[in-house]
Amino acid sequence: MKLLEDKILNEGIVLGQDILKVDGFINHQIDVSFMEELGKDMAEYFQGQGITKVFTIESSGIAPAVFTAKYLNVPMVILKKQASKNLKTQVWQTEVVSYTKDLSYELTLAKEYISDTDHILIVDDFLANGEAATGAVRLIRKAHATIAGVGVLIEKSFQPGREKLESQGISVYAQAQIRDFENGKVRF
Ligand code: G4P
Repeated sequence: MKLLEDKILNEGIVLGQDILKVDGFINHQIDVSFMEELGKDMAEYFQGQGITKVFTIESSGIAPAVFTAKYLNVPMVILKKQASKNLKTQVWQTEVVSYTKDLSYELTLAKEYISDTDHILIVDDFLANGEAATGAVRLIRKAHATIAGVGVLIEKSFQPGREKLESQGISVYAQAQIRDFENGKVRF
């Protein structure tokens, strides 16, 4: 998607060999009109597939997921990285290891927000190692719901996220695919 590629080229900052800093419009400050355009494009890509809910992983996936859900006209559900303190809540949980951030967490979803008739689109900001997305897939499968696909703003194609998902039969749409970083410059 040219709009996103241009924004990355103009405002993204390459850190070291494999990190793209996009704090100015995705991860810290959000360019809301721009994000709405991304959400609209995401919804158009997946429309007509009977999607009943959009799921995302807190926190940076929330903004693109909100706008995707708005244009698909379905609810958006946030998968939490910490269990609710409310002991009465029945939850599905799975452990996710984040290699980029060198930590792990229990991805958590209250059972009341998913059912076996749901057909779910997972939306996130980055697809890198694919640990967050495959964690979301495990949770959805635990609840016997089905998965329409995974939509991300930025895929780092030199990392194994897409392969992990596609090998499980899950379709992936990335609005920008980064081939590599050469001398501090992004190559799509
Ligand atoms: P995954 O996201 O594909 O599972 O890979 P990994 O476990 O390696 O990534 C862990 C976290 O690092 C994720 O954020 C992911 O979005 C973020 N990340 C990976 N590569 C980049 C990058 O090049 N630039 C930026 N800005 N972030 C990257 P998270 O822990 O879910 O945090 P949050 O930002 O959603 O709160």
